[in-house]
Amino acid sequence: MTLKTFKVVVVSGLAGIFLAGCASVNPFAKPDPRWADFKSWTKVTEGTEPTGDPSNLLGLVHKGPDGYRDVYVNDIAKDALLGPAPNDFPEGSVVVKHQFDNKADWEAGKNGDVTVSIKAADDGTRNKDNWIWAAGMKAKAGASDFCSSCHTAALSLYNSDYVFTTADFLKKHGSQ
Ligand code: HEC
Repeated sequence: MTLKTFKVVVVSGLAGIFLAGCASVNPFAKPDPRWADFKSWTKVTEGTEPTGDPSNLLGLVHKGPDGYRDVYVNDIAKDALLGPAPNDFPEGSVVVKHQFDNKADWEAGKNGDVTVSIKAADDGTRNKDNWIWAAGMKAKAGASDFCSSCHTAALSLYNSDYVFTTADFLKKHGSQ
């Protein structure tokens, strides 16, 4: 399957599941403690203007190519993410993407949405079953073929275990 076909299949076939997933968010729930304080973590995109679609894989998810996206990493994942490839993450790694519709919202830090990748297990291989995902600050993390099928591309494109935004990614794409 070419990269382009892969992208079309992922984006068109699974967009519905993504929306359905969001509908299950309980507005009265508390944010999961594994990422509740993500704004105090290391902001990987600090000093960059994180917009566009540098990997050509984004399609319409994560607010699409016109959106703005900051990425935060917890202490457990920090060294793996900021080091050179291969990027392999220890169990307990959490990466948060704080995404905005446009530059004005990003600058003001308002109307942001959160998506989260969590390495909840480690079977010693790069395996989607090690990862769980959440689409929303108060969403429940769980297995997701929608999220993992696209993030699988990070393995071949960036030699990284399901995480795109590594030090090499940022270097390769300049200011993103
Ligand atoms: C259509 C492909 C696609 C799908 C589906 C997708 N992502 Fe991503 N995601 C990306 C790309 C590409 C990036 C990084 C590139 C960028 O920001 O330009 C990214 C970045 C992220 C990041 C920042 C860390 C990283 O890997 O770079 C998180 C966290 C994330 N996604 C979570 C999720 C979650 C949770 C889901 C499911 C609800 C999801 N993603 C679904 C393509 C996708």
